[in-house]
Amino acid sequence: MDYGWLLFFFCCSLIDMQSITALFVTDISVPEIVDFRDNVTLSCSYDMSGHTLNSVKWYKDRLEFFRYTPLMRPVYITFPVAGIQVLDGKYFCNESTCRVDLSLLGAKSTGNFKCEVSGDAPHFKLAAKEDNMTVAALPQSDPLIEGFNSMYRMEEFLSATCASDYSSLATKLTWYINGEQPMLGELQPTIDTSIPAHDYILRRQRLQVHFYLQGHRFYLVSKILELKCVAEIENYPELRRETTLSASLTQFDNLNNQMLRHAVTNSAAFECRSCSWKRTCLVSSLFVIILLTRCSHQS
Ligand SMILES: *[C@@H]1O[C@H](CO)[C@@H](O)[C@H](O)[C@H]1NC(C)=O
Ligand SMILES: *[C@@H]1O[C@H](CO)[C@@H](O)[C@H](O)[C@H]1NC(C)=O
Ligand SMILES: *[C@@H]1O[C@H](CO)[C@@H](O)[C@H](O)[C@H]1NC(C)=O
Repeated sequence: MDYGWLLFFFCCSLIDMQSITALFVTDISVPEIVDFRDNVTLSCSYDMSGHTLNSVKWYKDRLEFFRYTPLMRPVYITFPVAGIQVLDGKYFCNESTCRVDLSLLGAKSTGNFKCEVSGDAPHFKLAAKEDNMTVAALPQSDPLIEGFNSMYRMEEFLSATCASDYSSLATKLTWYINGEQPMLGELQPTIDTSIPAHDYILRRQRLQVHFYLQGHRFYLVSKILELKCVAEIENYPELRRETTLSASLTQFDNLNNQMLRHAVTNSAAFECRSCSWKRTCLVSSLFVIILLTRCSHQS
């Protein structure tokens, strides 16, 4: 008798469990940050746990822009939502995944994207996952180093400027001289230029570094001077870009010898000039004396 009841409860709970098994959205893929010139693919995967799929809906900021209903006609429907342009025929959904391709419409395409899956009657269970996407004007090129030569001598003064590409996100520039950051006095204040374009305020940073090629940074490393400029965007380490340039570096000793040789040749030349001048002077003076003596003799 007792066992009968137990069995009854066990069966009931099994049936109940099947009707309440949740369906899950297992994964959603929405790019975190994207350039406004790109197309993006949003996708979502789900586990129906034995339920029949009734619909998959995509929302931007709670507004539905795409629907997949495998049991109805039409199977796919798109709805107009600001900032969203579903690419014609560029979507595919089935019982386990749903993918939609969009072209972007600038800053207004930024938002919260949600994939919502519903099971069939009578329960119409719902499951959803969401993620944010930022649509920005991202730098399209590596930072530019200007004013850097291919050859330097020790003790020489060096000045170079790094310029980031235009971007709607603030960029931070960092210099590295042979792997080390410059000292405070070696950096000029960053110059920020902004221009309005494509609904964004695009900004470019320029940072000048200047220093004498002297001190421990250059004594230890020989022959190569390496300058690196790194452009980073806060919160998005994947958008880091960098440029490295190198120059040959003539060592101090060589330079000293060169200067010495230079000086020797110069002073020799000067001596020669002055001695020839002295000779001319002497000859002319003698000539004048002879003339004078002759004159005095004649008178
Ligand atoms: C975006 O997709 C459209 C339609 O397929 C295509 O014409 C366009 O070139 C794509 N744009 C980019 C940046 O890939
Ligand atoms: C749904 O489509 C994806 C991608 O084409 C495929 O890998 C998967 O096996 C399909 N699932 C079902 C249940 O047909
Ligand atoms: C999306 O952005 C909103 C508002 O900035 C934030 O509250 C929310 O936590 C973000 N969601 C995700 C999944 O990052």
